[in-house]
Amino acid sequence: MTDIKELLLSRIRDVADYPEPGVMFKDITPLLADPAAFTALTDALAEIAEGAGATKIVGLEARGFILGAPVAVRAGLGFIPVRKAGKLPGATLGQAYDLEYGSAEIEVHAEDLTADDRVLVIDDVLATGGTAEASVQLIRRAGAEVAGLAVLMELGFLSGRARLEPALRGAPLEAL
Ligand code: PRP
Repeated sequence: MTDIKELLLSRIRDVADYPEPGVMFKDITPLLADPAAFTALTDALAEIAEGAGATKIVGLEARGFILGAPVAVRAGLGFIPVRKAGKLPGATLGQAYDLEYGSAEIEVHAEDLTADDRVLVIDDVLATGGTAEASVQLIRRAGAEVAGLAVLMELGFLSGRARLEPALRGAPLEAL
């Protein structure tokens, strides 16, 4: 295992039966509280952004904001929040997606992305891939190009990667 992977894994806490019985929650707050680990994560994600030729970072609410904002600053790029529906004050584009039970919707300010943009999406976890897939669809509908998706963790047993690959159309999916 590489040093950074070992460091990051050592700062992720497993919380059993949260938010409901049978679920093992991956808590990243110990990582955020450790400046060495948080800096290493930010640097690694900024390197991915630079390698992908990204012009903007999109962070997915809520933990994608915490990880994506310092990456944008480090890489010298703008940060664009993709929020749960109803939270952004300006004119928005929305994208609905299915949850295990029911559905959800995410939104972005329409004016924040243009045809000149190559966007790297950042989030903490890729689980079923529904949120990330909706964000990719949203970015394309805004007219921008998707440079890739970068996450701290991928929960392989939920097969999010397989679900996302058609939507990514060859853009890279990096899980640290
Ligand atoms: C979690 C996580 C990802 C998403 C992954 O966020 O931070 O954004 O779920 O799940 P998926 O791959 O199955 O779509 P959550 O919806 O819990 O929102 P929060 O960060 O605002 O708590």
